[in-house]
Amino acid sequence: MALLFNSDAARGSIFREVFAGALPDLEVFQSGDDVAPEKIRYLLTWTVPEDIARYPNLEVLFSIGAGVDQFNVEVVPSHLKLVRMVEDGIICMMQEYVALGVLALHRDILAYQEHQRRQHWQALPARQAAECRVGFLGLGMLAQAAIERLRPFGFPLAGWSRSEKRIDGVTCFHGANQLPGFLAQTDVLVCLLPLTEQTHGMLNQDLFAQLPAGARLLHVGRGPQLDQTALIEALDSGHLAAAMLDVTDPEPLPQDHPLWSHPGVMITPHIASVTQPHTAAQAVAENIRRHRAGDELIGLVDRTLGY
Ligand code: GLV
Repeated sequence: MALLFNSDAARGSIFREVFAGALPDLEVFQSGDDVAPEKIRYLLTWTVPEDIARYPNLEVLFSIGAGVDQFNVEVVPSHLKLVRMVEDGIICMMQEYVALGVLALHRDILAYQEHQRRQHWQALPARQAAECRVGFLGLGMLAQAAIERLRPFGFPLAGWSRSEKRIDGVTCFHGANQLPGFLAQTDVLVCLLPLTEQTHGMLNQDLFAQLPAGARLLHVGRGPQLDQTALIEALDSGHLAAAMLDVTDPEPLPQDHPLWSHPGVMITPHIASVTQPHTAAQAVAENIRRHRAGDELIGLVDRTLGY
């Protein structure tokens, strides 16, 4: 039984080291190694290799990232299990980034940056956290972890998800019918949805119009969820006050794209949260142990839902 690691060699050697300690009987190969394809049971990769059919005994496809939207599932045999990366490194980094973004948007950092460029000293009206309602689109594991980090600041917290969720101290909305009610009471909207057919283009003109005037957007989902033209229009009209984007479409954002120079926009290059090889290797090793024991895998993807 073997695992094939399809990524860069530096990360691969960290995975090898962790696996050697955690699962000494598991052979680990890297792409390019000379290995009999029928040995491979587990594949750890960012995208689905074109020649996936070469591995007749493959059982689990592990994504190196938190999402699986980059997987072309059409070429993945239906009996294969798909697994998202659920690991402490990704979770901690997302908690940091969401706290950073919500606080920056709440405290008008983008407006002050623009003032600084003009050497303009002026205090803007300040709100207390208790008056700034933070709403999460998507209430998965990363959103819930970010919510835990935000709690001590005292923001009123809410979230919307496809199916019903209950989280202590968080006003939870669900389903299409409750989306307008959620949006109407959200001053800082944090998007942490997976990319699916349903969420593609979801952050659009219609959605922005349902947010209160002066709302802000923190986008840490996937680029194609956002209609970037609609965002610029909503900012230019003054309906939205600011946006912080860690994801764009395409990535990298083309050099002449108007989002780069928009004073109401702050962009980071998809760095909110990045898989950390040590903790990721431990998480994959734990999942392989579970798979061997016939236990449920952490981060198992429901192929009908796409996440
Ligand atoms: C990054 O966006 C990831 O999927 O890990």
